[in-house]
Amino acid sequence: MATSPSRPRILITRAIFPEVAQRLSQHFEVESNTDDADWSADEVARRLQDKAGALTFGLERINAELLAKCPALKICANMTVGYNNFDLDAMSVCGVLGTNAPDVLTETTADFGFALLMATARRVTESEHFLRAGKWTRWNYEMFSGAEVHGSTLGIIGMGRIGQAIARRGALGFGMKVIYHNRSRLDAATETACRASYVSKPELLQSADHVMLVVPYSAASHHSIGAAELALMRPSATLINIARGGVVDDAALATALRDKRIAAAGLDVYEGEPKLHPDLLTVPNVVLTPHIASATAGTRRAMAMLAVDNLIGYLVHGKAVTPLNAAGLQGRI
Ligand code: DGY
Repeated sequence: MATSPSRPRILITRAIFPEVAQRLSQHFEVESNTDDADWSADEVARRLQDKAGALTFGLERINAELLAKCPALKICANMTVGYNNFDLDAMSVCGVLGTNAPDVLTETTADFGFALLMATARRVTESEHFLRAGKWTRWNYEMFSGAEVHGSTLGIIGMGRIGQAIARRGALGFGMKVIYHNRSRLDAATETACRASYVSKPELLQSADHVMLVVPYSAASHHSIGAAELALMRPSATLINIARGGVVDDAALATALRDKRIAAAGLDVYEGEPKLHPDLLTVPNVVLTPHIASATAGTRRAMAMLAVDNLIGYLVHGKAVTPLNAAGLQGRI
């Protein structure tokens, strides 16, 4: 297709599937970070100066400072469901739409939440390290005995789409008693479908065998699991975080794990990732994965394609598929 200077310009801030960039190039002038380089905030702002849209990855801070440097910008389309990299108020004031990628990753992410729960409760990585280190020389009746998953109590904090998918797995697949806490209680039909009962956060922390965090990150959820909350949990309990770094106070968690205040943790997200609190690397009773809950080829492709649908939908047809701040947009629409 011949290029036309009147086509909107788009920036793809990280490497992505070739077919995603190719689809965008059918509608836009595309600048891509094909090397997957770590662009600084200044570099992102510089490259975005003349762009109408950006395919973003939940990593770039889209705030007032950046927006002031990017007068042509109209839309930032995250390929992630989380959007704590967006300052939506600042974006609305500047007339910049933010979109995310919900739904397409729900079941895959719930699968991973369960994988992390199983690995943590049954000490999968700890026992593998033992074996790889050549320490497995004989059988012993209590070697790596872990916590029961089937029939136990699963406490889910954050009962959005992913939380509900985890609840269904727990209740229907593993016969677990499912309790949850959420900002607002679900309607009765959804509670019945998930076989989940609403409880207060302290009650959940006190009675769950496994606590699963699926809340979005916000000022309200920052360090919402810290020393005080960990102290409420059972010494035999596990904590799983597939939500966002910063929801858990990682330093307090490392101390609780070291002191066996709780039995174990499974973490996919970290405050300040990809850096980790160093103490987490020194305790054996934690399973650590590098933010991969949605990482299957099919799901990552679907997430990216939804971001593409949002860019084409908004810049070509005037309507995004999954807008976050459409109602509040002002200014440069
Ligand atoms: C998301 O989509 O927000 C997940 O954390 C994947 O990065």
